[in-house]
Amino acid sequence: MTKKQIKNICCIGAGYVGGPTMAVMAQKCPHIKVNVVDMNEQRIADWNDSDLNKLPIYEPGLAEVVDEARGRNLFFSTSIEKAIDEAEVIFISVNTPTKTYGVGKGMAADLKYIELCARQIASVAKDDKIIVEKSTLPVRTAEAIKTILDSTGKGVQFDILSSPEFLAEGTAIQDLTRPDRFLIGGEQSQSGEEAVQALVDVYSNWVPRENIVTTRVWSSELSKLTANAFLAQRVSSINAISALCEKTGADVDEVANAIGKDSRIGAKFLKSSIGFGGSCFQKDILNLVYLCRHFNLPEVAYYWEQVIKMNDYQKHRFAKMIIDSLFNTVSGKKIAFLGWAFKKDTNDSRESAAIYVADELLQDRAEIHVYDPKVTAEHIYADLEYLQEHRVGQYVEQGEKMSMEEIRNLVTVHSSAYEAMKAAHAIAILTEWDEFKTYNWQQVYNDMLKPAFVFDGRNIAPKEEMNEIGFEVYSVGRGK
Ligand code: UDX
Ligand code: ADP
Repeated sequence: MTKKQIKNICCIGAGYVGGPTMAVMAQKCPHIKVNVVDMNEQRIADWNDSDLNKLPIYEPGLAEVVDEARGRNLFFSTSIEKAIDEAEVIFISVNTPTKTYGVGKGMAADLKYIELCARQIASVAKDDKIIVEKSTLPVRTAEAIKTILDSTGKGVQFDILSSPEFLAEGTAIQDLTRPDRFLIGGEQSQSGEEAVQALVDVYSNWVPRENIVTTRVWSSELSKLTANAFLAQRVSSINAISALCEKTGADVDEVANAIGKDSRIGAKFLKSSIGFGGSCFQKDILNLVYLCRHFNLPEVAYYWEQVIKMNDYQKHRFAKMIIDSLFNTVSGKKIAFLGWAFKKDTNDSRESAAIYVADELLQDRAEIHVYDPKVTAEHIYADLEYLQEHRVGQYVEQGEKMSMEEIRNLVTVHSSAYEAMKAAHAIAILTEWDEFKTYNWQQVYNDMLKPAFVFDGRNIAPKEEMNEIGFEVYSVGRGK
């Protein structure tokens, strides 16, 4: 078997997956040139900014890795064709959002960006290339990519690998540096096996061989969807129990701790919350459901769909708890939102529960004052605008479309948490940022309208201390 020695890698897509993944790869493989390309000029300019605070993605430890490798063997640019031409391996890390139009609307993955990449590669490539799918994709996308690439008729050999990314935002650098596993799916042909080996050799620069799992292409693609479906299912399961805890007087954190001690269940991913967000869970489960329907497996589709329904219900339940507790109306009331990101330690707010909770309160004309340490005002308004445009989701569909003018009148974004909470009727904790645990709650209480309500969607507030101060504290799975 001829051994392919990789010296030049290109990654199309400089987002939450491509950016950190390639930064770590460049750091760990100084002998490989890594070109990260994107069609978004601003994004590339931000990646190249000499001020590391301006990187487009906030991720603990990322700035240090970029600082070490950038300009040495890590390069960010918009010269997509040049980078494709030079590379032996091309990673595709472009976004694959859920379709908002046409066939499969609200369910199937939109593959237009992937297709565009495949066409670009096909038009530029003059020599053999290994193409690696990094984005989360529905099963059998590799096949579609291969069909596009092979139809160019230039006699160039393309090997398509699936190597899904398992990093979680907020812990990306840790997840990439010491992964539980890296997965590579390849075709069972001689050239497919060589391509797999070439990628194994790249990853082996820092990942122990036993942590690199190789499979056939479809198993790899399906493993990614399955991993996310299982993880999301754990969150929906504990959130289902949180509703019961609130009715019965049990404490969901105590229940989670007790069941987590069972080594068959395990302690991770049992934190009850306002519901999961992020760019993967919902999208991947919807893909799984779509796939099951396509293959005429309605029972299987229905089973996984419940994970999403439970999640929608959890967000709705939280919004309803706020409205009910504030004497059945929030109209004209000031509600401070602590956090907008879908979890702590990231500036990403895609599918964040905060967006949906905000929407339900805005339907009742609440005045929302948001503070998040990393999400910009521009992103917050863009999230709300996107929701107004599409309004998909069980509870969202029941509401009315609002104009951006109305939203801008009702939603204010602050750069100080204390400003956001001043003279508020209630505080809602949406993200578990560490700094929310360190506020001077006595001062906050003094500055609020009374009764001063706190709705803790993450169970991080010091409930006893707050009760003593005089707050009315409600939390998910623990009640009042
Ligand atoms: C997820 C997968 O973990 C990762 O492997 C995959 O590559 C991408 O999708 P990510 O979406 O970045 O990663 O974050 P994750 O930590 O999984 O959290 C997802 C959501 O679930 C967040 O909104 C988080 O707050 C919520 N969550 C997580 C809970 O509510 N409770 C938990 O116990 C864990
Ligand atoms: P993810 O979380 O999957 O990384 P992001 O939206 O953060 O998703 O990043 C995807 C990136 O891919 C975006 O910066 C987008 O501009 C880029 N992109 C999408 N399609 C193409 C393309 N055909 N060529 C180059 N870049 C692309």
